[in-house]
Amino acid sequence: MIVTTAQLFEVAYGKFAVGAYNINNMEQALGLFEGHIQARAPFIVQLSKGARAYAGVKMLEAIIRAADENYPEAIFAVHLDHGDEATCYDCIDSGFYSSVMIDASHEKFEDNIAITRRVVERAHARGLSVEAELGMLGGVEEDIQVDEKHAMLTDPDEAKEFVERTGCDSLAVAIGTSHGAYKFSGGQGLHFDRIASIQRNLPGFPLVMHGSSSVPQDEVERINAAGGKLDPSARGVDADEFARAIPLGVTKVNIDTDGRLVWTRVHREHFKEHPENFDFRKPGKEYIREYAAFIVHKSEKLRSTGTLDMVREAITGKMELV
Ligand code: G3H
Ligand code: 13P
Ligand code: ZN
Repeated sequence: MIVTTAQLFEVAYGKFAVGAYNINNMEQALGLFEGHIQARAPFIVQLSKGARAYAGVKMLEAIIRAADENYPEAIFAVHLDHGDEATCYDCIDSGFYSSVMIDASHEKFEDNIAITRRVVERAHARGLSVEAELGMLGGVEEDIQVDEKHAMLTDPDEAKEFVERTGCDSLAVAIGTSHGAYKFSGGQGLHFDRIASIQRNLPGFPLVMHGSSSVPQDEVERINAAGGKLDPSARGVDADEFARAIPLGVTKVNIDTDGRLVWTRVHREHFKEHPENFDFRKPGKEYIREYAAFIVHKSEKLRSTGTLDMVREAITGKMELV
């Protein structure tokens, strides 16, 4: 069942975080849905501009609709990840999406507000909610690269003003994470004091954590042992820190890189062990199984495991009232 992102946030805020995972193909969708049914957890399917260009907009929609039919118990929202203004409008007008992200965080504060405000007006008129971004994460985002010294934590006072003036429904905040496999070089982690200050200024308002992959060391080692060449110093977010961030208002947690690592490990190990094989369905099946197990593990860390029936009751109960 496709629901609105706002409905998921209303149930989750302060209690658990909704995992938001990017998909680009059928195998990712199958693992994602299977894993969340095993975990009994709601989730958000995210489509990036890159994914829309890779698979095609119609193909992605068809995959998600088919997965919804195959897994009638699943409760999820469909979200545009890191949209520009034109892509936001395309998604809003399509009638398929639950919410869009307008990412104008690289623009000046006033320009970010003006662009976000325009998208909010058009989205709200069609019943979609809007995630915006303020502050600057490090790493690579679509085709924009931000190096660590230019990454900037979100200012709590600016965050309050930004939300008031744009009317956005959730805010992606820079709180120490970055996109990709190389987030931390040493003992850094999330800036909890910063998250707490933002929450003090925006009580009850859903915050979004991007760049939340853990980049497990054993995963990187297995990939490299099977022929990969990833930097062994790659580090991500300690998934045990999600539990501390949730009561501080972090309600949506974006994870992409870790899923790519699962794909890379399964396929590299498969073809190393079976160099004679050229039937891609064999590693494909293995990947779907492994990706589902990965989702079950992440759901535990996000505290969303076992919440599916409660979420269904909260949402369908309210739907009948409308
Ligand atoms: O933050 C970006 C996501 O990891 C999506 O990546 O733009 O390569 O699809 P992509
Ligand atoms: P990671 O790839 O670092 O997990 O980030 C995902 C993300 O923020 C998608 O918007
Ligand atoms: Zn992101």
